[in-house]
Amino acid sequence: MAVLVTGGAGYIGSHAVAALLERGEEIVVVDSLRQGHRKAVLGGKLYVGDLRDSAFMDTVFQENSIDAVIHFAANSLVGESMKVPGQYYHNNVYGTLCLLEKMNEYGVQKIVFSSTAATYGEPENVPIDEFDRTVPTNAYGETKLAMEKMMKWFDVAHGIKFISLRYFNAAGAHESGKIGEDHDPETHLIPIVLQAALGQRPHISVFGDDYATPDGTCIRDYIHVSDLADAHVLAVDRLRSGADSAVYNLGNGQGFSVKEVIGIARSVTGREIPMVIEARRAGDPAVLVASSERARKELGWNPHRNKLEDIIRSAWNWHSANPKGYNDKQ
Ligand code: UFG
Repeated sequence: MAVLVTGGAGYIGSHAVAALLERGEEIVVVDSLRQGHRKAVLGGKLYVGDLRDSAFMDTVFQENSIDAVIHFAANSLVGESMKVPGQYYHNNVYGTLCLLEKMNEYGVQKIVFSSTAATYGEPENVPIDEFDRTVPTNAYGETKLAMEKMMKWFDVAHGIKFISLRYFNAAGAHESGKIGEDHDPETHLIPIVLQAALGQRPHISVFGDDYATPDGTCIRDYIHVSDLADAHVLAVDRLRSGADSAVYNLGNGQGFSVKEVIGIARSVTGREIPMVIEARRAGDPAVLVASSERARKELGWNPHRNKLEDIIRSAWNWHSANPKGYNDKQ
């Protein structure tokens, strides 16, 4: 039986595909390649198309024996979602509805879902656990929460079991050096800092230094992308063993401010990395740090690429060896 990975040519999806390949899974990737990269898919069968294209998805389900889905395909930028929320509802929420309907039609009853800390919004407690309130501060998080809720009702009505993995800040690159982070436009802190280190940007803009944090800049919980990938493999196993639907946070449990990230990147790269303080970015909560106890206990997840310095070094290995990323977009 094959695992269908939607968005498997994207940053986190491609690392999950690599982890599934390493243990010999049969893989089918669906990706529109609007943001994904063909070269990021290290194996399996790639179908290029959109989840909202019913005939295309019929072909995917008819040509393969799929028993589980890992669903990454979505728009995922906080800032962009505040400008074009309609696109986020259409691609993310409607795209997921189309996928769940196809799964139901073809009798596929397991889905691992790529969710986000952005579902919580401004947290009540730090670290955040899965029972804390979910009041997103941006449209992106709101669409991911809507997708989780939709899966709950497909479980109630049709028995489709889901495991939703709420990631904190994915960072780093695969140890093989073959795949890494390449977004266009790039908006994430660590790759932007490394682009500044490479001289591809004049400086890093720090979005706000007047938050209620020790140095005034936002605090995030950075987790290695291959540790995230491992959690997806464990989640597929758990669903295959007949487990019930569940939600898990995936983070390191330790927060770093934007200024701290820049400091560590300076020492890893040995480059200056000029920094300019700018206005806050809309939709950014001040502090997001995970409690991942539940994932450790129930999934047996053991993230071990924990040191931020090592995470940034793995990203730096990728960025310095591939300064133009996959270099596949005109
Ligand atoms: N930041 C800067 N300058 C930049 C880019 C980012 O100061 O040029 C700051 C942001 O304001 C934020 C922090 O760095 O405070 C991290 O920003 P990212 O864009 O790297 O990540 P986010 O925390 O905004 O979002 C990421 C994912 C989302 C996910 C979220 C959950 O992109 O998909 O983590 O925490 F929902």
